Amino acid sequence: MNRATTHRVRLGLAGLGRMGQLHAANLAGRVPSAKLVRVVDADEDVARAAADRLGVQWSTSFDDLLADPELEGVVVATPTPSHAELVARAAAAGKHVFCEKPIANDVEATVRAIEATTEAGVKLQVGFHRRFDPDYAAATARIKAGELGDVYLFRTSLRDKQSPSIHYIAASGGFFVDVTIHDLDTARWLVGEIDEVTAFGAALSDPAFAEIGDVDNAVVALRFATGALGVIDNSRTAGYGYECSTEVMGSKATVRIGHHRRSHTQWLTPGSASVDWVDDFTERYPQAYVLELEDFAAAVRDDRPPAVTGEDALAALTLARACDRSMREGRTVRLSHEQTATEIAYAGREVDRARVR
Ligand SMILES: NC(=O)c1ccc[n+]([C@@H]2O[C@H](COP(=O)([O-])OP(=O)(O)OC[C@H]3O[C@@H](n4cnc5c(N)ncnc54)[C@H](O)[C@@H]3O)[C@@H](O)[C@H]2O)c1
Repeated sequence: MNRATTHRVRLGLAGLGRMGQLHAANLAGRVPSAKLVRVVDADEDVARAAADRLGVQWSTSFDDLLADPELEGVVVATPTPSHAELVARAAAAGKHVFCEKPIANDVEATVRAIEATTEAGVKLQVGFHRRFDPDYAAATARIKAGELGDVYLFRTSLRDKQSPSIHYIAASGGFFVDVTIHDLDTARWLVGEIDEVTAFGAALSDPAFAEIGDVDNAVVALRFATGALGVIDNSRTAGYGYECSTEVMGSKATVRIGHHRRSHTQWLTPGSASVDWVDDFTERYPQAYVLELEDFAAAVRDDRPPAVTGEDALAALTLARACDRSMREGRTVRLSHEQTATEIAYAGREVDRARVR
C-alpha cells in the first residue's frame, strides 16, 4: 500500500475537559489517519491520568506540544477564550490546527487567528461536527443535488438536557456564540447565506444566567438570501434529553433529520409506547466526532483543504454576534456578505467591507 495513505498524522491535544476527553479517546483508537502522541491540560492530575490511560506523553504546558518536532498538528479543546492565542502559537510553530468551536468570542480575534494560520501556511479546521454526521451529510448531498427543489422553510432545534456549569457559561461567549453557532453553521450549509436574524432570549431556569447577562433559552428567525425563511430554537435546559433535529421544506420534498435513540427497541405497555433518548452530544454524535478528526488528519496527510474552514467559523460567529445584538437591541439585524470564488465572508479582512446595519 502507498505510504502516503498509510501515514498516521502525529497529533497533540490541548484541553482534557468534556470535549477534549472525547477527542482524545477517539484519537487514541478510532481515527485511522491520526496518531495521538501528547496531551496537555492546565490541570496536572487531569493530564497525567489521561496520558496514563491513553499511553501517550503528557504536560501542563502547550509549549511542550509545540516543541515536539515530530508533531504535525494540534487539537485545541481548551476553554473558548484561550483558542485564538493557542491557534496563533501553533501556527507560528508550523503545526496544523483543529480548533473546537468557536475560534474566539469576537470577530477580531477570530480573524487574527485565521490570518496566523494563513500566513504560516498551515491548515485550520473548526469543530462543526454536525457536518460529519452521516444523516446530515446525506441530507445535504441530496439538497445540493436539487432533490428538494427550492427551499421554503428551515427549522432546527438544538437542546441540551441540562446546562453545563455556570463557570463554563461565563467564559463561553454567551448563548448564541456557544450554542446557536452550530445551527447557524447548519443553516448556511443546508440552505445558504443568511441576510437577516431576529433573536429572542430568556433566562428561565436559573437566575444565575441573568446575573451574568446570559440566557438559557432562545428562538431565532432567519431570512436567507434566497428569500427562504428559517427558525432556530435552542435550550440549555430541555430536561428530557439532548435533541438536535432539523427539517428543510422545499418545493419538491421535505427532509427531516434527527434520531435520538440509543437502541431501536420500543417498550409497549397498556396505553403507552416508549423509546429511549440520548443524554448529550456525545451519545448523539459518536460517528461525527470521529469522522471530523479523521477528515482533519487526512487533509493534513493528503495536503488538501479541510472541509470546514476558518471562514466557516467566522461566518457563523458573525451571525451569532448578530443574534446577540438583535436580542439585546430588540430588533432585526441585517447582514451583508460577499461571495468570492472560494469563500463567503461576513466579516474580517473581507469583512471590513461587510456591514451589519
Ligand atoms: N463541538 C461540540 O459539540 C462541543 C461541545 C462542547 C464543548 N465544545 C467546545 O470545546 C471547548 C472546551 O469545552 P469543554 O466543555 O470541554 O470545557 P471544559 O471546561 O470541560 O474543559 C476545558 C479543559 O481545558 C483545560 N484548560 C484550560 N486552559 C487550558 C490551557 N491554556 N491549556 C491547556 N488546558 C487548559 C481545563 O483544565 C479543562 O480540563 C469549548 O471551546 C467549547 O465551545 C464543543
